[in-house]
Amino acid sequence: MISDLWYKNAVIYCLSVETFMDANGDGVGDFEGLSRRLDYIAGLGVTAIWLMPFQPSPGKDDGYDVSDYYNVDPRFGTLGDFVDFTHGCKQRGIRVLIDLVVNHTSDQHPWFQSARSDPKSPYRDWYIWSKTKPADADKGVVFPGVQESTWTRDEKAGEYYFHRFYKFQPDLNTANPMVQEEILKIMGFWIQLGVSGFRMDAVPFVIAEKGAEFKKPKSQFPMLRTFREFLQWRQGDSIILGEANILPEDNIQYFGDDGDRIQMMFNFPVNQSLFYALASGDTGLLVKALDETREKPQTAQFGQFLRNHDELDLGRLSKEQRQTVFEAFGPDKNMQLYDRGIRRRLAPMLGGDQRRLELAYSLMFSMPGTPVIRYGDEIGMGDDLELPERNCARTPMQWSDEPQGGFTRSDNPVLPVISKGPFSYDHLNVAEQRRLPTSLLNWMERLIRMRKEVPEIGWGDYRVIDTGKPGVLVMRYDWRNNSVLIVHNLYPEPVEIFVDPGCGEHSNLLIDIVDSESSKADDKGQHRLLLEAHAYRWFRVGGLDYLLRRTEI
Ligand code: NOJ
Repeated sequence: MISDLWYKNAVIYCLSVETFMDANGDGVGDFEGLSRRLDYIAGLGVTAIWLMPFQPSPGKDDGYDVSDYYNVDPRFGTLGDFVDFTHGCKQRGIRVLIDLVVNHTSDQHPWFQSARSDPKSPYRDWYIWSKTKPADADKGVVFPGVQESTWTRDEKAGEYYFHRFYKFQPDLNTANPMVQEEILKIMGFWIQLGVSGFRMDAVPFVIAEKGAEFKKPKSQFPMLRTFREFLQWRQGDSIILGEANILPEDNIQYFGDDGDRIQMMFNFPVNQSLFYALASGDTGLLVKALDETREKPQTAQFGQFLRNHDELDLGRLSKEQRQTVFEAFGPDKNMQLYDRGIRRRLAPMLGGDQRRLELAYSLMFSMPGTPVIRYGDEIGMGDDLELPERNCARTPMQWSDEPQGGFTRSDNPVLPVISKGPFSYDHLNVAEQRRLPTSLLNWMERLIRMRKEVPEIGWGDYRVIDTGKPGVLVMRYDWRNNSVLIVHNLYPEPVEIFVDPGCGEHSNLLIDIVDSESSKADDKGQHRLLLEAHAYRWFRVGGLDYLLRRTEI
């Protein structure tokens, strides 16, 4: 049955083992600690965990520089601990996705070490070389201001090697069939250990033609089908969630016309325009991004998100739009990164204002797709702008008001726990929020429950209903004879709107599923809704009778 596709209505929780929970007291999070916290994650209602890289790595890019694809970094535990973890997830009905970083390896990876040492090495052709420095070497850097070039000379090899990211991350020659075979082998390995799929890092670069000879590298889309086919053959319900910050017109190439390439992608256009909407109080751009990303095969799905472990990338907004977001959420230079984004966590961006945080999450959870949240977001964790680059938003989880936020018994945590200001662990932590019925944590648990009860969002068609007020977004989802109407007021003041849900005879009644403020239409079929500042309202259209007629899911 099509509704078996678990990822269409999942709630994904992203975390880094390194900073989640330290069980052995060495200051570094580990799988044992994470396993002990699984009931917490299950209690939130999360249905899938996405783990950031945990394989052995020199750790120069937070694990995105892998030096052994078939192991667990000893700082985090053993393969045995990993399997214990995936088993614990399975028992609780939680799926596991892991990062798959195969655009590049660490320069410490034995493949690269062999490749650079000997032109005849079987691994030489696993990387991209050039005898001379390509003319465009300084173009296309991903981390401007930190990364200087995309080609660096390796003394030992006597040649230049290509690296899309930092220079310690040499790009794999993904067009090489041997490399492709190895990528499949890596996927096959982790599938056996209990994972349900992969968040594939940097997909556009994985599939790009690579080499000095390519002036305008094309994308090799069929490669995505190769990955997909292998995965489905080994384990039918496993998926690839692609990190691909691409133009909407290319989406279909990634999903495949018949949905035969990757199953999921993060929706970067919606992410950027959602922040613009929050900053400007104008939902026009968001509606446009929704429209542009509407087309996709039935089995494909978008991952919707607010913040992740990287900077909030605003690179696809116009200069003025970006400036509007900068001014609202990251006015200081130190809050901005790589000339295109903001490196803060969401809560400090919104001034720690719970009402605005609720609005932002409610909006994101109501976007067509599957919501992805990040550890710590559920309690509104802050950032530490004294830490370099993206590390500011990667500080350890704040569990309690014990020393180091209860993250570790060590006095020397892998990254400092936030211990100053309004986001300090002594008053912002899980234990505290668990006790408080009105806390963000308890609210988030309710939001997740509600989102799971509205499968129309993951499966259905949607339309935006115009109210003539750019700061108000009204969306209606329809699926299997059910309709849901979701309303957000982005204005900082109350507003009155009139809405006809457009569901004929069923439009009469709107049943509020957040609070208990249901609404009856007037004799013209219009609902008059009075929305508080930053209000969010979720309604079932047609009331209870209609609800009972709901088709089995
Ligand atoms: C994208 C990841 O999200 C980011 O953290 C990393 O630095 C680059 N890819 C390189 O792997």
